Formats: sequence, structure tokens, C-alpha cells
Amino acid sequence: MTRAPGTPVAPALELRDVTKAFGSVVALTSGSLALHRNSIHALVGENGAGKSTLVKIIAGLYQRDAGDFTLDGRTVDFSSTAQSKAAGIAVIYQEPTLFPDLSVTENIFMGRQPTGRFGRIDRKAMRAEVAGLFARLGVRIDADRPAEGLSIADQQIIEIAKAISLDATVLVMDEPTAALSGVEVERLFAVARSLRDEGRALLFISHRFDEVFDLCDTITVMRDGEYISTTSTTETTVDRVVREMVGRDVADLYPKQEAEIGEVLLDVRGLGSAGVFHDIDLQVRSGEIVGLAGLVGAGRSEVARAVFGVDRYDTGSVTLKGTRIPAHNPVAAMRAGIALVPEDRRKQGLVLDSTVAHNITMSIRQQLSKLGLLTSGAENAAARVWSSRLEVKTSALDTIAGTLSGGNQQKVVLGKWLATNPTVLIIDEPTRGIDVGTKSEVHRLLSRLAGEGMGILMISSELPEVLGMADRVLVMREGRITAELDRADATSEAVMFAATQSSEHAA
Ligand SMILES: Nc1ncnc2c1ncn2[C@@H]1O[C@H](COP(=O)(O)OP(=O)(O)OP(=O)(O)O)[C@@H](O)[C@H]1O
Ligand SMILES: [Mg+2]
Repeated sequence: MTRAPGTPVAPALELRDVTKAFGSVVALTSGSLALHRNSIHALVGENGAGKSTLVKIIAGLYQRDAGDFTLDGRTVDFSSTAQSKAAGIAVIYQEPTLFPDLSVTENIFMGRQPTGRFGRIDRKAMRAEVAGLFARLGVRIDADRPAEGLSIADQQIIEIAKAISLDATVLVMDEPTAALSGVEVERLFAVARSLRDEGRALLFISHRFDEVFDLCDTITVMRDGEYISTTSTTETTVDRVVREMVGRDVADLYPKQEAEIGEVLLDVRGLGSAGVFHDIDLQVRSGEIVGLAGLVGAGRSEVARAVFGVDRYDTGSVTLKGTRIPAHNPVAAMRAGIALVPEDRRKQGLVLDSTVAHNITMSIRQQLSKLGLLTSGAENAAARVWSSRLEVKTSALDTIAGTLSGGNQQKVVLGKWLATNPTVLIIDEPTRGIDVGTKSEVHRLLSRLAGEGMGILMISSELPEVLGMADRVLVMREGRITAELDRADATSEAVMFAATQSSEHAA
């Protein structure tokens, strides 16, 4: 198509002053965004700013209350996700939406299975396409296995493969990298760039600024449901974006206080689980934050789950303050004073159709009721303490947890475990999906809790977080601890080396 010079190109997709309310909750007051072909556009904002709501309007899952929504200059009104798909829009949602009972391949072709001559499903064509997609993304997942039981990282990769296979003009990715490791992120970015260069328009949502600035051409900032600004990434800075997002300067992101390190609280000896992890020795002392670093898949979450008793182990022992904790018994571990904030908080930590107050007080309910205190007043008081310390953005404690934004759901789960006032807190990816302002708050909180004598074992894939917050860093690779570094010796090079050096190269 030739255009007269100077004719402005209509954006591939544009939203202007879009509003959306859920009852009394106003999610969007002026959502505006213009996506152009050959461009990767970032959308950033605090937890609850309205990013996912905007995505769901684009996807046809929600309908806007007011405002303009156009594709190539033409107004659209999607009343279903099928219509959005048919218009050339592919969406990767913040939370994977795979069907657990269906195979990986069936999930990728959900609702549009290629059929052969007699209308039969062409399994060979499906297999070949999946093989091609996985090769492009560099993944090795058995395409015939059910989706059930896949790690979040694998589920996310499958969502990405599914979206790419739709061959859409507009590709929307809502926090696709939150659960991915460095290598997987690199692969996804390579694919995203090639899709851009083929002439597609991409939208990328993330709380990781390094990624935003690395990948995206343009950046739009939202705050409290409102459009704030759109700039070319080469013409702005992280500091400026953060200030626009939060509306103020963010205090130190890693506010680590010096704490007095005391007695050993958690003592794990020779823990092993066939084929998963081996010879795990680790101690956490009072006042200490121990960082557990490593690549995704190194076995860190598995160790945490075994220590807390969610999973079994074959050898070794776990003691807390000298008392042996029975294996495979999370209730006993919790009573003894261990808390585990799991990695997959939406599935493992939250009752989606219960209120925020109910979720936060879930683990202390027994305590409250023993003291004859389980009244809605007491429940709300306990819940209020934690939801305000964590800045859960919700107008009321009786909000249904499932309607909170992704990041705010994370904070509720954190609050639930902190309310148990544990002796040792094991926390898996404490700030995944949490915005920069609250991240600094969560770090301050962890530091303060350690200062009060709690022992904290912090699993994190974010190197700056480990280096910034841990007194001591343990690194895992392929199910084993490969290095123990004091805060002073823990550099990113040292941690990365221990996390990646393959056994063949070991001396
Ligand atoms: N289905 C719903 N019912 C009620 N309220 C909702 C619903 N969906 C979203 N909200 C509210 O709308 C607001 C915006 O949420 P949204 O999920 O769009 O935020 P977000 O910017 O994606 O945040 P995050 O970074 O945490 O993912 C929040 O206050 C949220 O609680
Ligand atoms: Mg969101």
C-alpha cells in the first residue's frame, strides 16, 4: 500500500480515555495507549494501576464503560475473546490459563484444531507446528504430556508458544517474564524482536525495568487508572519512569539494616531427595537473612518445600532450635514456628473466592479462636495491620481476593504468613510481580523482621535482591549447594559462576 507522504499512519491499536469500573471499584479512569507496527511498547505502573484491566479490554474479556478503542483507525467493540482473536490480537495473560487435563499440544491449539481432509483433527500437522514453535523458543517440553504439573515457567512458555502460533498482528504480553529464568527471557526477547521486525505491534508489561529498557522502543506510564505519559525509551530514564509511576521518589530499594546475628534457628543436615536435591546442609541464624540463589530449576523451591514438609525427603534432618521437625508434615512445621511463602502464590497460597481479611487471618484463625477472639472485629484488626504494612491496594478488607490485581494478591499471601509471626520465615521469590515502591517496602519489612530476631531464608532469582538483602548467600546448581558466600564476598560474578559452572568444568 502506498501512502501520500506526510499522511499519518493510524496506530495498529489505540485506546483513548477508556474507563472501567467494577461496582464501586474504578479500575480505569483514563486508559490511553497507541500501539504501532514495528514497535515494542512497554506499559508500566504500580500494582493495581489498571494494566491488566486494559489488557483484558483489548482481549475482549472485559468491555469498556466509555472511551475509544480502534484498530487501524476503525472502532471496535469486542464482546468476546474470540472476536479479539479473530481481529488479529493474541494475548498472554498474567496468570497462565492452561487446561490441566489437556496435553500441551491440545492447549496450544485450543479451539482451532487444524483438520485434515475428512474433518479429522490433523495430529501430525499439530505436532510439527509445536515442534517448530518450541525450537524457536528453545524449549524442551514433552508436547504430549498433560499441562497438569508443569512448572509456572513451562506454563508461561506454552502460553507464549500459543500466542505466537496465532500469527497475530498485535501481541500483548502481561508480565510474561515474571516466572522465567535469564536464558528463557533472552529467548523470548529474541522472538519478540523478530516479530517486531516482521511488522507486528507488541505490548509488554513488566515490573523489571532492566527488561523494559532493554526490549522496548516506547514506554507508557499509568498511575491509579490514569494515563500519565508516553516517551521513547531512549529519551527517558528509570528514575524518571519510577517517579511518574509512584508519584514520588522511591526510597532505597535495598534498605538492609545491620542486625545482630544470634543462635542457629533452622538447621538442615544432609537433606536429600532422589533425583531432586542432594546433601543439603544449611543453617539460618536469628537475625540473619540467608539468600538462596541459583537458576530456575536448580532445586531451591524443592528444598524449601521439603524443609517445610510439603514434599517428602529421603535422607537428612530438619531441626528448629534443636528440636527435630517431623518430615512431610507442614502442620507440625508451622506449629514449630516455620512459615513458607510459596513461589506460586495464586495457586498455593490464596483462597481466591474469599475476602482479603479471611485470607490474611487464615493461618492465625486457630490462635484467635483458642483465645476466644475469633470475631469479625478481631479478624479485621489483624488483617488491617498487615494489609496496611504491605500497602495492599484495596478499598476494603472484604474485597474478594480473586478480584485484586496480581501484585496485590501476592501481598495478601505475604501478609497471611507474616501474621503467624514465625521463628523462621522461608520466602520464595519475595517480590516477584511486586511493583518498585512496594518492593522497597517488602525489603524494609524483611530487614526489620530480621532485626527483631527472625531468621529468614530468601529464595530469589533476582541477583540484586540477593546481593542487596542477604547476610550470607548459598548458591544451588543442579540440586546441590555449590557455594557459600559471605555478604562481603558475594558479587554477581561469584554467584553467577557458582550457579552456572557446569560439572565438567569443575576442578
Ligand atoms: N474483576 C474485578 N472485579 C473487581 N475489581 C477488579 C477486577 N479486576 C480488577 N479489579 C480492580 O481494578 C484495579 C486494577 O487492577 P489491575 O489488575 O488492572 O492492576 P495491574 O495494573 O494489572 O496491577 P499488577 O501490577 O498488580 O498486576 C485494582 O484495584 C483491582 O482490584
Ligand atoms: Mg496485572
